[in-house]
This record gives sequence, structure tokens and C-alpha cells, in this order.
Amino acid sequence: MRRHLLNIELKNSRIEERKNFHFSTFQFFNIIILILTTVLGLTSCDDGHINDPVHNDGGATYTARLSGTFHSVGTWSGSYSVAMACFGDESAYSLLQSVIPASSDDKSQVLTLTNIPSEAKTIEIAVVNVLRKRIATIYSYPIPADQRVGDTIKLDVGTLDVGMFGAINQFIFQGQATSCARCHSGSAPAAGLDLSPTQAYRCLVGADATKAPSMARVLPGNAQESFLYKVITEGDDNVSYSHPALFTDPSYAPFVEIIRNWIEAGAKE
Ligand code: HEC
Repeated sequence: MRRHLLNIELKNSRIEERKNFHFSTFQFFNIIILILTTVLGLTSCDDGHINDPVHNDGGATYTARLSGTFHSVGTWSGSYSVAMACFGDESAYSLLQSVIPASSDDKSQVLTLTNIPSEAKTIEIAVVNVLRKRIATIYSYPIPADQRVGDTIKLDVGTLDVGMFGAINQFIFQGQATSCARCHSGSAPAAGLDLSPTQAYRCLVGADATKAPSMARVLPGNAQESFLYKVITEGDDNVSYSHPALFTDPSYAPFVEIIRNWIEAGAKE
């Protein structure tokens, strides 16, 4: 009887053991899965370094070296900067970028992007915001479809005007969609305001407004007192054409703030 009991006890303890074994194998796999997901999670994380590729497909990359002199790069401040950056087809956010320092104004620069991901389609000098979103392209090089992996793309852009006024002039005053110069140039520009490429600055900064005699078109340092800013943001009863509508397109909307920043910062050429 005693032996029998012992046997049962032994059997039971073996069953316990087996149960224990099953439990610990289960635990073991759990731990392995946990380790794997942690490692995968860590390696797929962007470490936040601004020059690191956001989407790298694991090796198919090239390097780009760009030389040039950037005029008026120091006029950008706050939420915007000028950068050498690469972009894919789908997104306006740079895959990789190197900001041109404001202090490098008018000095020749060599900028490099390494590990350019294969989905990059263009290398650009662009105005970007703090989220790395492209606001305007100043120079663009389409990466050839047969670009050899491992090669270095060498670009020389000469001297580029990358200043705030240059960008406003190019993208807004001469822009296809905003088409300011369409009405504001030629022999009888609207309101006597000539916004053609070479006249825009002279006709705006410090010049009296036609439709609001007590105001300057652009009063450096004061956007609220500048008629240009009033006309494009709220319009004016004396101006027979509705200008704010020209900035409703999301591509042009950031320029309202850029124009304000430009005026507030002294409206430099
Ligand atoms: C479709 C034609 C048209 C387009 C495009 C246009 N404007 Fe005008 N603009 C006018 C007219 C018309 C007036 C007022 C003239 C009047 O009422 O006699 C005016 C007046 C102005 C004034 C007031 C000037 C003054 O001295 O009183 C400013 C500033 C101005 N426009 C800036 C712009 C800017 C910047 C753009 C582009 C974003 C632009 N305009 C695009 C037609 C246009």
C-alpha cells in the first residue's frame, strides 16, 4: 500500500515535471520572440539624425557631391532653411538632406549626401521647412535610371541665388499659377505696380502704394503696415481683384508666411 502510494506520488511528480517542461519551453519561445521583436524594432527605428536615410532598402545606394556658391542663404531663418536634399516621386518630404549653413553665404561650398536610397529620384537645392517638407525647388538634378550603385554623382551648380526675395520673386511674382507678373508688367501694369523679374524689388520696397496712398507697398520690418501683405492676406476695398485666392493652393500657401517673414526681417534683396 505504501509502495503503491509512493508510485502514484512519483507518477504525479513526473506529470508535474512534464507540465513544468512544457511551461518553460513556452516561456523560452516567448522570450525569443520578445528579443527578436525588440531587435527588429530597434534596427528599423530612425535614430533621428537628420542626414540618415529614412527609407533605405538595404544597400542600393550612391553618394552625391555638390559644389556651389549660395547667395543670400543667410536671409532664411526660423522655420525654413535651404538644403541639398534628395526626394522620391511620391513625397514632398526629403529622404535625406544636408542644410546649407546660413554662415556660408557667398562662400563656395561642397555638400555631400551619402547612402542615398534607391527610391530617390532627384537631388535638389530646395527650401525646406522644419519637417523636411519641400517648399520650393531652386535647382533639381534628376537621377538617371541607370545610375550605378556605389558611384558618386558630382554636381556643380555655380552660383545660385537662394535668398528669400529670390524665392518669392521666382515662385510667386513670376510663378505660373500665381501669375502676378501677368497683370503686373508691360506698358500698363495693374495699379502701376511692375512685378517683372528685374523691377519687382524696386517697385515694392519703400514705394508708395497706389491704392492706399498712406501706405508703402512694402515697409521693411513691418508686414502689417505693408500694402502688399494686406492685399494678399485680406484684400482691400480699393483693389478690384481678389488676391488672397491666389494663395489657396497648398503649394503656394506657405509663401504668405514667407512674405511676412521676409518683410519683418527687413525685406532684403
Ligand atoms: C488677374 C490680374 C491680377 C493678378 C494675377 C494679380 N493682380 Fe495684383 N492687382 C490687380 C488689380 C486689378 C489691382 C488693383 C488695380 C485697381 O484696382 O485699379 C491689383 C493691385 C495689387 C496691389 C496694390 C498695388 C498698389 O500700389 O496699390 C498689389 C500689392 C498687388 N496687386 C500684388 C499682386 C501680387 C503679389 C500678385 C501675385 C500673387 C498679384 N497682384 C496678382 C490685378 C492682378
